[in-house]
Amino acid sequence: MSQTDPFRQISRGIYTCLEQTTGASYDFKAGYYERLVSTHWFNRLFWDTSRNDYQEFAAKGILRTAGTVLDIGCGGLAQTSQLYRATGNDCILLDRSVEMLKIARARLSADNGRLPSNIQLLQGDAFQLPFPDHTFDTVCSFGTIHLFDNKRAFVDEALRVLKPGGRCYFYSMTSERKISRIFMSSLRLVHEFGEVYSAAQTLSLFHQRPLLVSSHLIGSTIFMEGLKTK
Ligand SMILES: C[S@@+](CC[C@H](N)C(=O)[O-])C[C@H]1O[C@@H](n2cnc3c(N)ncnc32)[C@H](O)[C@@H]1O
Repeated sequence: MSQTDPFRQISRGIYTCLEQTTGASYDFKAGYYERLVSTHWFNRLFWDTSRNDYQEFAAKGILRTAGTVLDIGCGGLAQTSQLYRATGNDCILLDRSVEMLKIARARLSADNGRLPSNIQLLQGDAFQLPFPDHTFDTVCSFGTIHLFDNKRAFVDEALRVLKPGGRCYFYSMTSERKISRIFMSSLRLVHEFGEVYSAAQTLSLFHQRPLLVSSHLIGSTIFMEGLKTK
């Protein structure tokens, strides 16, 4: 796949489409964040989910599809590195934080020091994806929507690059449980999270679009998948 050809390499196997490559908020907490979300207790306590719940859902988008995959806000692949190592699909893993992409690179190349040739790591902005309309067969974004205030613009941009007939997979944290609500509201005060949404509010971001959507809730995480109809 040559999707990263127009972009410049800033570190081994990591490309960028941005002028400003440093200073992403996750650059400063990449290692800490990745360790936290890899623990059983964090997911159980705050979201009442397991890592298995995330991995099973992500497998639908990464493994059980065919064609090109874009993962927006891929982070360090805490839940998904095994899936990306196993897939034969051509995948672009995009994140604003180069430090998160370095963690992703380390996980992907753990076996033999090399990145799988079908996986490209790209630094970019979810709100200005550097791709034409209708580029990807599958668009995924895991654990991201709740971070943003402008959630609708985020979804608009993700769906813009999805082909008609393509599938999308998102999950997001919501305020469904009291502990989740308190945790999210606290992080919002320090600008870590966007406006706190319930599951219904999050799902409504996908209404009135050319999409057939299905969803389910586990704990306070909503899992949404869609088929783009035109
Ligand atoms: C909560 S983490 C989720 C990471 C991963 N998807 C997972 O499930 O573990 C959110 C990720 O989104 C990235 N991110 C935040 N704002 C972004 C933006 N505007 N464009 C691209 N990535 C962004 C962060 O750098 C971070 O890696």
